Amino acid sequence: MANDSWSVLVTGGAGYIGSHTVLELLQADFEVVVIDNLSNAFKGEKDAKPECLLRIEKLTNKKVTFVHCDVLNFNELRDVFKKHKFNSVIHFAALKAVGESCEKPLEYYKTNVCGTLNLLKVMREFNVRCFIYSSSATVYGTPEKLPLVENMRTGNCTNPYGKTKYMVEEILKDLCSSDKTWSVISLRYFNPVGAHSSGQIGEDPNGIPNNLMPYIAQVSVGKRDILYVYGNDYDTPDGTGVRDYIHIMDLAVGHVKALVYQKITNPIGFKAINLGTGKGSSVLEVVHAFEKASGKTIPYKIVARRPGDISASYADASLANKELDWQATKNIDDMCIDTWKWQQNNPNGYKS
Ligand SMILES: NC(=O)c1ccc[n+]([C@@H]2O[C@H](COP(=O)([O-])OP(=O)(O)OC[C@H]3O[C@@H](n4cnc5c(N)ncnc54)[C@H](O)[C@@H]3O)[C@@H](O)[C@H]2O)c1
Repeated sequence: MANDSWSVLVTGGAGYIGSHTVLELLQADFEVVVIDNLSNAFKGEKDAKPECLLRIEKLTNKKVTFVHCDVLNFNELRDVFKKHKFNSVIHFAALKAVGESCEKPLEYYKTNVCGTLNLLKVMREFNVRCFIYSSSATVYGTPEKLPLVENMRTGNCTNPYGKTKYMVEEILKDLCSSDKTWSVISLRYFNPVGAHSSGQIGEDPNGIPNNLMPYIAQVSVGKRDILYVYGNDYDTPDGTGVRDYIHIMDLAVGHVKALVYQKITNPIGFKAINLGTGKGSSVLEVVHAFEKASGKTIPYKIVARRPGDISASYADASLANKELDWQATKNIDDMCIDTWKWQQNNPNGYKS
């Protein structure tokens, strides 16, 4: 069966990871419908479609259907399923800021848990049983040991955001045990960074970026004065925190591979798969790689550790290779080069 006869609903497809995945899905000839409530995506002025989707249509020369819809609105969701027939759903829509989740836990549980429940109920009603879930390395909590392997303990999460991801995974496991018609893949992302190599789509955070790479990018163009490095006394080679950064396009391809795997083999039940490079980089290594890519100096200041931060996290990515025939192809230099290109071309994100 050709991919163009396989229709995919992408929730949160106007966001950072969703938009890059939509681009890869279109390039692989899938039919794509995006829903998003645009709470964290730029709408654009003239057109009904968000700016990132307009740019994706130009880059791919293909069309994507967009519906403004909130996953918390059950009736709106049902209307989308009444209007379109889907084979699979990729579920990105969520709130994702760790710090904010400690201040607004109810909003996080509502959107991330109740929103997913709504979606699963509507999928069940319309007999759509292939589900790919945006999970996170945060489900492992404080690592017992490294690298992180899928069968390690989960749930020791230190913040409400991580707990929502863990809870949804537990719900998905229960769903798959109760009903053997579901095929669920929970992709546990490590630290997605970078942008499409065209410099046309990228990460466009609202307000102060929560993550390292967009923060560095904004320092590089003078939008922020200085980078704060939280702790240099961790048990890592240079004392700063180590994370497994993964290029956004590698991550996007991981979703396409997961979809193709579901389409071809229809694996029944719940499966968690890490998407990471298997290699960690420290904060200072990322800073220096970005300086090399941009030719700019990134001023930084070492400050106290942040509560809840762990010293190091990186994936064992061998399961993704075995099951999905996927592996990361891009290194930290590629990630910085593409982030810099996006930031330079779009100093104000999609608003420019
Ligand atoms: N970016 C990361 O570092 C990272 C790491 C691990 C997991 N994840 C997960 O990946 C997914 C996508 O993350 P992202 O970085 O692209 O975030 P993002 O905020 O850029 O994208 C999320 C999209 O969902 C939309 N959305 C939010 N609430 C919605 C609702 N109620 N109804 C409909 N749409 C809604 C937003 O407008 C946004 O466009 C999330 O589930 C996130 O938890 C992200």
